[in-house]
Amino acid sequence: MEKIHIEQIRPDLTWRIRHEAMYPDEPYDAIKLENDSNGIHFALFAGDQLYSVISLFSEGSVYQFRKFATLPVAQGKGYGSLLLRHVIEYVGNMGATKLWCNARTSVSPFYVKFGFSETEERFHKLGLEFVIMQLELNN
Ligand SMILES: CC(C)(COP(=O)(O)OP(=O)(O)OC[C@H]1O[C@@H](n2cnc3c(N)ncnc32)[C@H](O)[C@@H]1OP(=O)(O)O)[C@@H](O)C(=O)NCCC(=O)NCCS
Repeated sequence: MEKIHIEQIRPDLTWRIRHEAMYPDEPYDAIKLENDSNGIHFALFAGDQLYSVISLFSEGSVYQFRKFATLPVAQGKGYGSLLLRHVIEYVGNMGATKLWCNARTSVSPFYVKFGFSETEERFHKLGLEFVIMQLELNN
């Protein structure tokens, strides 16, 4: 078994995984965020291979995660769960009161398992349906 570890990475190291996992049919630049340089980016590695990424943005004690992605060849192996657990613990330690995301509705049941709940807010973008989901934290 390859050793798994999670660490913070430079913003640009998330781009290839985002593109391949989330929007492979869109231009490469579509997955870049204007404020990527203000984010905190985490990656999961197995051995020296980067498989899964997630990006965090904060406004005071409210945190949003964006562009959560695992390379298609590595999906369903539990990497995303490990990474999301890590982020929930990280924001908890940072004193966050809330963690939220724009979730693909297809992924909503996955987030519910981590304690997130759906809000009333839904929207469509690039042919996908999204729902805003949030996790209240005890800080
Ligand atoms: C959502 C995503 C980040 C989860 O990462 P992951 O590494 O696959 O996560 P895990 O393996 O920990 O768990 C994913 C869950 O979905 C299931 N799953 C996801 N993709 C799967 C696949 N290709 N094959 C089998 N199961 C899959 C897993 O069984 C698991 O469900 P469970 O917890 O009930 O067992 C990843 O599937 C992904 O990159 N999807 C495309 C981009 C996307 O939708 N991002 C989120 C936008 S809100």
